Order: sequence, then structure tokens, then C-alpha cells
Amino acid sequence: MIIPGLTHLRPLPLKEFLYGSAYYPEHWDAPTRTTDPELFHAAGWNVIRMGEFAWDRLEPTEGRFDFSLFDETIARFGAVGIRTIFCTPTATPPRWLTLRYPEVLRVDAQGVVQKHGSRQHASHFSDVFRTHSRRITRALSAHYAGNPHVIGWQTDNEFHCHFSEDHSPAAHAAWVEFLRARFGGEIAQLNRTWGTAFWGQTYDAFEHVPTPRGGQPTHPNPAHSLDYYRFLSHGVTVFQRDQVEILRAANPAWWITHNGCFSHIDFAGDFTRDLDFLSYDSYPLFDFDWRTRPANQAFNTDYVRAYSGNFVVMEQQCGPGGQNQYLLDTPEPGEMRKWAYVNIARGADGMLLFRERTCRFGAEEYWIGVLDHDNVPRRRYREAAQLGAELQRIGAAILGTAVTVRIAVAGAHFETQSAHLPLTLGLPSPRNVAETVHNYFYRAGHAVGCLHPTDTLAGVSVFFLTHFAMIDSAWLPAWQAWVEAGGVLVIGARSGSKDMNNNVVATTLPGALRPLVGASVEEYGHQNRPELRPLALRFTGAAVTTETWYEQLLPDTDTETVARWESRHLAGSAAITRRRHGKGWVYYVGTYFSPLIIERLAAHLASENLLPAPLCTVPRVEVSERRGSEHTLRFYINHGEQAVGVPLAHSGQDLITEQPVSGSLTLEPNGVAVIRLGHSGQANDF
Ligand code: GAL
Repeated sequence: MIIPGLTHLRPLPLKEFLYGSAYYPEHWDAPTRTTDPELFHAAGWNVIRMGEFAWDRLEPTEGRFDFSLFDETIARFGAVGIRTIFCTPTATPPRWLTLRYPEVLRVDAQGVVQKHGSRQHASHFSDVFRTHSRRITRALSAHYAGNPHVIGWQTDNEFHCHFSEDHSPAAHAAWVEFLRARFGGEIAQLNRTWGTAFWGQTYDAFEHVPTPRGGQPTHPNPAHSLDYYRFLSHGVTVFQRDQVEILRAANPAWWITHNGCFSHIDFAGDFTRDLDFLSYDSYPLFDFDWRTRPANQAFNTDYVRAYSGNFVVMEQQCGPGGQNQYLLDTPEPGEMRKWAYVNIARGADGMLLFRERTCRFGAEEYWIGVLDHDNVPRRRYREAAQLGAELQRIGAAILGTAVTVRIAVAGAHFETQSAHLPLTLGLPSPRNVAETVHNYFYRAGHAVGCLHPTDTLAGVSVFFLTHFAMIDSAWLPAWQAWVEAGGVLVIGARSGSKDMNNNVVATTLPGALRPLVGASVEEYGHQNRPELRPLALRFTGAAVTTETWYEQLLPDTDTETVARWESRHLAGSAAITRRRHGKGWVYYVGTYFSPLIIERLAAHLASENLLPAPLCTVPRVEVSERRGSEHTLRFYINHGEQAVGVPLAHSGQDLITEQPVSGSLTLEPNGVAVIRLGHSGQANDF
């Protein structure tokens, strides 16, 4: 059931909207396990997820499997209509395995062999570990292939969550083979591509090439580092593929997913193509500032959707969470439900809470679940039950719809983000800047989202390319065609300055983007202490101070200068240019996208009628739209501390209250409305 082509517009092929939680039968006694199914059924659960850390229980000694605890749990929940997502348990290999096969342990950048006692301690590159991973996956999938209550699988748990690097002997052996394949067996090709002439790094054999790690006096070669990050992504993809192939062969009707979006995995590549869809774990309270939290959650969610389209939230925080040294804020009444609607408004086609009940032992004994340690249902349970009842009513209308994006910010490109890390120049990463841009349009109530650079631009009016140093010239024809048809491409400084090997291009900047931009960069510089020596440009009739970076531009004769520098030696030279291509424009901005620059750019685009209208301009009210072939849904969410009135440009029906709405809407704090518009309702709204 894989849908080819990953795009932000891809809905999920699920038969019902999934709602439930992670569930850990290995943490509960028999009486609790007996009463749990009814308790969660009453709260509207239709699914639980199990098994990701239970390998020791599933295979207590090598080759002796015991699935009885899970069989019993699956059957009990199945009897009340709650189905199971099972996980391959490879995030926590059991002690017998690490004792008998210590060579499976990962090694960190300092050369420290990871010890048993927490999680994610085994190497994806170890053939021995892969053999055991295939063995447990085979045993589980054969056992559950005919079980009608098992509907899908999650591979492992949050690959690369704690750390992504691996410098074990097994990783080095795999690295050598990866490089051999990448460079066609020619070590000279590696030397040329990486520029090993710098600091005398020339290699005579692939076996001699180290993984870039700590213990070096100063910084490694950025091309070497980027290929290492590609190698990490490749390694985890291959490790996961072992499991996927076994699961698919056992029961082709199962869907397969993975939860979490951590570093050094290309989630817009084979890793996700091997799956049916991606899942995401949503923990909004890791933003400690409640005022920025909504924008932060929206950005993170949009970033995930950009990889492959709609997703399932496999874990959503429902209480405060704590591990050693921290305990997050306690969600106030209504917050957990509100976060769920934010996730749904921005692309979730399923919502599982983390976790069913707070465990009384282990490193997460203060990671608060739906139920407290004492198992008394309190306000979190009641709120989860309210959400469950609502989703039972409205879930079907959500499935099949995709989130509207009119203003897109480039993101979700793993290589560009990874390439930044070994040589940051003290600059924010493409992802950091994407968040700055997203934030502005989010707060202004626009249909903003993130977009992978190879994704379709259909329906998008304005596309911000946020300082993508690495540009693949294969991306350009689609951008050119979209601009000619009327799109507005806004390119940030430094874009096009590197090739896909993370080396600087030899051509005058902006390199491969030069024909689109119609201007060249005469000089660039880092603004190290802009508060001491500010640089300003004149834009939309005002002086705008810049931060971070300046570029002095030389526009071609048919390129307009939109803003000029007005400070020191730059005074009078072009700072922002634009060039017409067909019906559209390419803007080039010779500085970094700061909040102030974005605000002025938005004002300029609006004055030129190039900016779509926002969906809603009520402060602290989030609006998102999901469209399907049958209807359009508008989600209105109040993040403020007061009730607010929201004017509506259209009438429709609030799916939550099942009442008709028109004219305006009142939203309480943490209040949510999901308005279904008839198809006639959507046309005039932009
Ligand atoms: C997630 C992880 C869970 C649990 C949770 C709370 O990242 O997948 O297993 O650890 O965080 O810390």
C-alpha cells in the first residue's frame, strides 16, 4: 500500500482516524492489565502501541521466545475493539545479547563504548546486531501474521534520538564499503571530491579513511563530514529495511511506520519510501516559554509534514515530563486537547498519547501519563476521553484531506541541514532561519508551511529559500517554471555558494542561481557585532538594520533594485533585487532573514499584491486549513488567555459542536473549532 512520491500534500491511506496511547503491559500487574481495556475503551481509544522496549520480555534468553504477555494484552484490548500497533524492540537489546555479543555496542565520537543500562546502545552497522534484529522481527511477525488485532508496525523507536554517530569497528567497516561504492572504487575520486589536498589528508586506500570524530586537534573537512552524515542515514535505512522486508513478507496488509524525526536521517528519501508513512512524536513542553510554544509546535509539525505529507502522532505529551535534571511544565486544563488539534490541523491523521499511565520505576518514573501513579482517573483522563469522543465523531472527515500551504519555507532537506554543521561560520542553520520566517507568517495568520526543495509548488504563492548554501541545479527547472507561471521566489543570501559535496563553488555567487536571480554578489561579509557597527538598508521607505550578514549586489540591467544599503562603504549599492520571469518574480535578499527583514519583505510583497491574504488576523488565534475532494476544514485554535471573537468570512458547520456557524465564532482559552466549509465556501477566502 505504498503511495509513490513523497509530497507534503500526501494524505494517509488509513481506514480510520487512530486514537489511543502507547501501552506497556510489562509495567503492570495482572489486575491492572485486566481492567485497562475497558478503561481506555471508555475514553475512545481505538488503538494502542506496544513492545518497543520489551525485547527482554519477548526473548528472555537467546532463542527462547515468550509472547504470552503480549498475546493476552492484544486479545483483551482486541475484545473491546482496540487494536494494536506492534513495534520491533530493537531500541533495547537485552542483557544476554550485549553480554554474549559485546561487539554490537555503539561507540561515540570520543571512542567510548556504550554500556548496557539505558537504550539505543547497539550499532545499526553491526552484522551481528542486524542478525539478531532480523531474528526477533521474523519471530514476532510470524507469530502475529494471522492476528486480526495487529494492524501495523512501528520500527524500533526514535532512531538517532539520543545520538546518531557511531565509530565502532563495525561502523568503520561499513563506512569503508559505503565510500568504495560512492566513489566507484577509486580512492583518487574521493581525494578530488573532498579536497583532501587541504591539510595533507590524501588517502591511499578506503580502509585508511577514519570516521570524523573527536580526538582531532581541530576541525575536520566539511565534505568528509557531510558524507559521514549521509553514511549514518544510509546505515539506519538499511537496518530498518531488514525489518520492513520481513514484516511485509509476513503480512502485506500491515502498514509500517517509524516515529520521530531526529538528525542525520533523510526522511525525504529511501528511509521513508520504505515505509507506508512517517510518524512523529510531539512534545510541545520542551519549549519552556509558553508564549513561543504555539509557534514552535506549528513549525515542528510543518517541518515534519514537509518530508512526506500527513503523519501519525505516535506519541503526544499529555502531562509534564521529567528525566534526570528536569521536569517540564504541567499542562493546564485543555492544553493537551489543544495540542492534539494543532497536530491534526497541521497534518496528523492519527493521535496517540504518551503514555497510558505513569510508571512507578525506571528513568522515566516522572514522565506523567494519562493516569497518575495511583491509577485514579483525574482531569487528564477526562480530557483525553473528551478528545476521544470528539475524534470518534470527526475523524472520518479529517482523513483524506491535505494541509493548504500558500506561503512556503524551504525545509526538511537533510543534506543542506547536515552540511551546515561542520562549518557554521557562526551562522544560524537553514532550519533555524526557516523557523524565523515561518514564525512571522504563522503569527500573521497565514497558511504557511515548509516544503522540501524537490516537492511540488502547486498552490504555493510565495516560496522562501532560507540560505541554502548547497543548491542542486536539478531543482532549478521546476522553480523556473513555477515562477514563470506567477510564483514569487524569495532567495536568501549565501544560497548557491556550495556544491552538493559541501565545497564552495568556483563561479561568482549566487552560483547556479545566477540566471534566476539576475544579479551577482560583489562582496559579502559577516556582521559580528551589528549592535556596535550597524548596517542598514533602505527598504519600503524606511531604514532597516540588518543582522548576521551583508552582500553587496550587482544587478543586471533588466533586474530591479528593491532596496539599497545606506551604511558606510556599502552606501548606495543594491541589497535586495528582483527579476521578472514570465508572470512571476525572483527576489534576492543580500542579508539574512531576520524578523525585521521578513516583516519588511511581507509589507513590500503585500504592497505589490504578491502576498496571499491571511486566513485570520486575530492575535494568538491559530488557523489552518485542510482540503479534500469532498470538503474544506478550517481549524481555529485559541492560544490566548482570554476568550476571543473570531470573524468568519464563510459559513459552515462546527464539527465539534455539530452546530452551524456564520459571521463570527467565540473561542474560549484553549478553545478549538473545526469548521467544515461547503466547497463553495473556499473560493473567495484568499
Ligand atoms: C520519547 C520516547 C519515549 C519516551 C518519551 C518521554 O522521545 O520515544 O520512549 O522516552 O520521549 O521521554
